[in-house]
Amino acid sequence: MRATLREAAVPGRWFAMTQPPEDLAVVTAKTLAHYSERAAEFWVGTRDHDVKQNIDALLRHIRGTPPLCILDFGCGPGRDLAAFRALGHDPIGLEGSAPFAAMAREHSGCEVWEQDFLALKLPSGRFDGIFANASLFHVPSQELPRVLGELRAALKPGGVLFASNPRGNNDEGWNRGRYGAYHTLESWRTFLEAASFEELEHYYRPPGLPLEQQPWLASVWRKCDVQGECTSGQHHVADLRRQPVVAS
Ligand SMILES: C[S@@+](CC[C@H](N)C(=O)[O-])C[C@H]1O[C@@H](n2cnc3c(N)ncnc32)[C@H](O)[C@@H]1O
Repeated sequence: MRATLREAAVPGRWFAMTQPPEDLAVVTAKTLAHYSERAAEFWVGTRDHDVKQNIDALLRHIRGTPPLCILDFGCGPGRDLAAFRALGHDPIGLEGSAPFAAMAREHSGCEVWEQDFLALKLPSGRFDGIFANASLFHVPSQELPRVLGELRAALKPGGVLFASNPRGNNDEGWNRGRYGAYHTLESWRTFLEAASFEELEHYYRPPGLPLEQQPWLASVWRKCDVQGECTSGQHHVADLRRQPVVAS
C-alpha cells in the first residue's frame, strides 16, 4: 500500500512536497504517538546500541574546550545523553515525545527540552555540537531547509552538526506509522550545503559490512561562519524529486 499524505490525489506520481500546516501537524502528532506508545519497548530494544562511532565522529571535529555544550536532537529515552555526560560534557536533550523526555531525564540526569522539530525554540549560538542520531529523517523535506537553518543558528561559530539517517532514494512518506524522508548522499549534501554547512566526513553503518548491508548514512558538518559561503551553487533543493514511500 502506498501511503503519503498527498498521494491519494496523485496516485503513482512523483510526490511534490507542499503540505499545508495542518498536514505537518499530523506528521508530528502521528509520528510522536507511534514512539510514545512504544516507549518502554524502544528503550529495551535500543539502550545497548553501540553508537560510539557516531559520538566520536562529532566530538573529534569540535574545536572548543571541554566540557562541550551538546544538543542531542531527538534524544529518545536518553542513552546518548548519558554517554556524553559520562565523557564529562554538558549535553541537553530535545525530544517531542513526553514519555521519552521523562525517561531521558531519568536515565541521564540531563535537562531535556520537550519540543517539536517543526516548531523549534532554540537559543542562538549556544552549542558546540548538535548530535542528531536517527532523528532528522523525521523532518519532511519541504521543512528541512528551515529546520537546518534553525540548527545552524543554535551552533556557536564553527560548531559541528552530526546526523545519522536511514538512507534511501529520495523517497518520503509514511513508513510503519512514522513519517520519514530517506535521502541519497547527494540529496543530503544538497540540503546541508544550501543551509551553509560544509562537509567534514561521511560514512555508512554498521561498520565493517558491504555497502548494501549498511542502511545508515552518517555525516558530519561544520557551520560556515558566513551564511551562503558554503553553497556550491551546483545543487538546488528545489530540483530534488521525491518518491512516495511504499509502506510495509
Ligand atoms: C529513531 S528515534 C532516535 C532516538 C535516539 N536519538 C536514538 O538514537 O536512539 C527518533 C526520535 O525522534 C523523535 N521525534 C520524531 N519526530 C519528532 C518531532 N516532530 N519532534 C520532536 N521529536 C521527534 C522521536 O520521538 C524519537 O525520539
